[in-house]
Amino acid sequence: MTISFAGKVAIVTGAGGGLGRCHALELARRGARVVVNDLGGALDGSGGSSAAAEKVVAEIKAAGGEAIANGASVSDDAGVAHLVKQTMDTWGRIDVLIANAGILRDKSFGKMELKDFEAVMAVHLMGTVKPARAMWEIMKAQKYGRIVVTTSSTGLYGNFGQTNYGAAKASLVGFMHSLKLEGAKDNIHVNAICPVAATRMTEALLPPAIQELLKPEYISPAVAWLASDEAPTGLILTAAAGVFAAARLEETDGVNLGHAATAEDIAAHLGEIADWSTAKPYGQGGEQNAKFLAKIQDKPIIG
Ligand code: NAI
Repeated sequence: MTISFAGKVAIVTGAGGGLGRCHALELARRGARVVVNDLGGALDGSGGSSAAAEKVVAEIKAAGGEAIANGASVSDDAGVAHLVKQTMDTWGRIDVLIANAGILRDKSFGKMELKDFEAVMAVHLMGTVKPARAMWEIMKAQKYGRIVVTTSSTGLYGNFGQTNYGAAKASLVGFMHSLKLEGAKDNIHVNAICPVAATRMTEALLPPAIQELLKPEYISPAVAWLASDEAPTGLILTAAAGVFAAARLEETDGVNLGHAATAEDIAAHLGEIADWSTAKPYGQGGEQNAKFLAKIQDKPIIG
């Protein structure tokens, strides 16, 4: 199997540097016409210029690919509308969205100002939602779309000092799980990449020897696959340094304690309630609800 993006148009947000640049180069190398979006601001989201995006466009063109630059902020309504219009005016379709743009405003929760929380939510969550929404009807009309959201180990598992970033990155997993259901009948697949890579976002955290191992270009094959014709839908693919794994939410089978169950009864039966050997994932929320209705047929333990 050879994965090709010939004839496809891809928008990669935050592609002026770091991971997004590598994703844009990889998609272009495989034949996609690429819109390189980047606000070109600082790590905390301040400032901005389209120079970063233009530089990556020049790199793609030098390698024989096709690309255009866009300097909009993904959280700005007018900017996102322009991003979609510019793409449609230039190439007439949008097949792939790689929602990669991101910022950091790390602080322990007690020291974090609400504006730092809101700014991070605005870029990661709404900066994914707004472009996806603006191109949704286009993808539906085409009966084709591939959306890759960018989550993080912080979103899946937490990290000290990153309540804002963790909430934003976890929210993208929830977004993906519902959107995959809505996109299924129109061949729109939605997946999540969970990378670890040495970029300006992580340079303060990683020693130089480790940074060498964690090149951002090692993530882009995973993104290319998640955005391809052959892509699954609803997968969280984790990736670093050539190592790839899958992550998912699971729930235990549970026990029917009965209507008389008290808080003390729950504590007493936690071993059975949280018996992870019985855990499995669900394709959608309704499957969990159906499990509850099936479990009430079991004889209640308490009564
Ligand atoms: P980076 O800082 O090099 O790249 C982020 C890019 O997004 C920058 O070029 C920045 O200008 C752009 N950007 C920021 N706000 C924007 C906005 N409002 N509109 C358009 N562009 C904007 O960082 P990196 O590491 O490449 O991050 C890429 C994505 O991967 C982010 O979503 C990040 O949260 C995520 N990620 C990165 C990890 C890592 O180990 N580097 C780990 C987990 C997730």
